[in-house]
Amino acid sequence: MEEKWWHQSVVYQVYPRSFQDTNDDGVGDLQGVISRLDYLSYLGIDTVWLSPVYESPNDDNGYDISDYQAIMAEFGTMADMGQLIEEAKKRDIKIIMDLVVNHTSDEHAWFIEARKSKTNPYRDYYIWRDPVAGKEPNQLRSIFSGSAWEFDPESGQYYLHLYSKKQPDLNWENEQLRQEIHQMMNFWIEKGIGGFRMDVIDTIGKLPDQEITSNGPKLHEYLQEMNQATFGTKDLMTVGETWGATTEIAKLYSDPKRNELSMIFQFEHIGLDQQSGKDKWDLKPLSIPELKQVLSKWQTSLGNDGWNSLFWNNHDLPRIISRWGNDQTYREESGKMFAILLHMMKGTPYIYQGEEIGMTNYPISEIAQAQDIETINMYYERLSLGYTKENILRSINAKGRDNARTPMQWDRSPNAGFTKGIPWLHVNPNYKEINVQSALADKHSIFYTYKKLIELRKQHEIIVWGEYQLITETPDDVFAYYRLYEEEKWLIVCNISEKTNQISLPSGDFSIVIANYPQEETPKGEITLRPYEAFVLKKNVRPM
Ligand code: NOJ
Repeated sequence: MEEKWWHQSVVYQVYPRSFQDTNDDGVGDLQGVISRLDYLSYLGIDTVWLSPVYESPNDDNGYDISDYQAIMAEFGTMADMGQLIEEAKKRDIKIIMDLVVNHTSDEHAWFIEARKSKTNPYRDYYIWRDPVAGKEPNQLRSIFSGSAWEFDPESGQYYLHLYSKKQPDLNWENEQLRQEIHQMMNFWIEKGIGGFRMDVIDTIGKLPDQEITSNGPKLHEYLQEMNQATFGTKDLMTVGETWGATTEIAKLYSDPKRNELSMIFQFEHIGLDQQSGKDKWDLKPLSIPELKQVLSKWQTSLGNDGWNSLFWNNHDLPRIISRWGNDQTYREESGKMFAILLHMMKGTPYIYQGEEIGMTNYPISEIAQAQDIETINMYYERLSLGYTKENILRSINAKGRDNARTPMQWDRSPNAGFTKGIPWLHVNPNYKEINVQSALADKHSIFYTYKKLIELRKQHEIIVWGEYQLITETPDDVFAYYRLYEEEKWLIVCNISEKTNQISLPSGDFSIVIANYPQEETPKGEITLRPYEAFVLKKNVRPM
């Protein structure tokens, strides 16, 4: 595979609303991101994925865009955006923009026009259908609860919205619409960005009449066309958010020969704690053997025909330490263990803001404390279906998106140093203990595990290119694998449990690369892994 810069990158996701406020309005902003670039550079990342900063009425926190070529006033101006790109460049950091083109806001000029009449030139930019027997055209449901069809009384038709009714879906069949999107992408490319993260890109080829939303027949044709018309000849990185991707589908997107995307986000591992056939709110405990099986399948099946991304967290997911680790007694140990487990794998790792200091979920006790549209809509829908309040709150506390969106915890000052105003979403009260300032002051903090993992990836090709091999003879809760590259051999051992576990290490001369417990000597032979213990051993290659 031809080597590209993003094969060895580590990406840091900034959710600007919650990152750093500089004008005391309680909402993070672009100047806030600029003010923290030195911190990001010290962590060692080389790419920032910036969640949407475009003009938006914020029905879905910026994922409902009313102008793709303007900056949300709360976040700053286009001049601030230019400054961010420049300042990042000075530190060798690339800025990846969030490209949300499955839908716009209903306040986008295109939709305002489209709504005016059935014959408006923009009408066909969106997806309109006549009622069927006086009702919605079909059973398609919105991911944010309820029907995916909204009635427009003016024209007597329904429009499609896979997300909120303020996020009407675009009609990718319309060639002019596609061209406008390409032009908009080129506008950003000319500004010097490093690429795009493509929001729910698997749904742009949908066939709503057949109730097919993802992986529609023209999806890859649209992506190839987009590649040609925009980033294809530039050295940019693109990552597609593709919820239902299998390993075969992943190759369609990311096989370099096909000229589509650099890589995808696939979510198979992330769905392992939900009941099958149900949605994310229907919880079930994680099975570690299943996690091993799924992650290993993704490690081995792409070969040279695709590229994967590696992540535990983002702005849509609960914090990994609270989710599958232990955010009380073993916060540090489990946080470092998950970092080591993921960052030693093949693919491009993503760190979601606050993950590097071990931020945790913040449980709520009343729906009034929630801000997220998905959570709020689901709450009322399930109440009307007869679920108990306790049951729904349990799901929200386990999976709700606000968990990851609480403001970044910078220091011990009020509101964790995020804002001097009233934060738009509650700050997690644990900020006096968990914050960047304390993490930087403690050489053994989770932060330094991330920093070292990033450094290791830059220094050792084995992490980027090495072959992956799962070790199957381990207790269920122990996830151990090899990476193999030329003569090199690394062994990664992770205990995903608060219980101890015995394992027997292979014989040979190994030395320790990184660990989450102090290791006086290199572990050897029969050993007992401590709660959430993780380490990486490197086989010493003797000179011939
Ligand atoms: C995926 C984004 O990550 C999420 O935050 C958003 O709500 C939906 N796409 C709709 O844009």
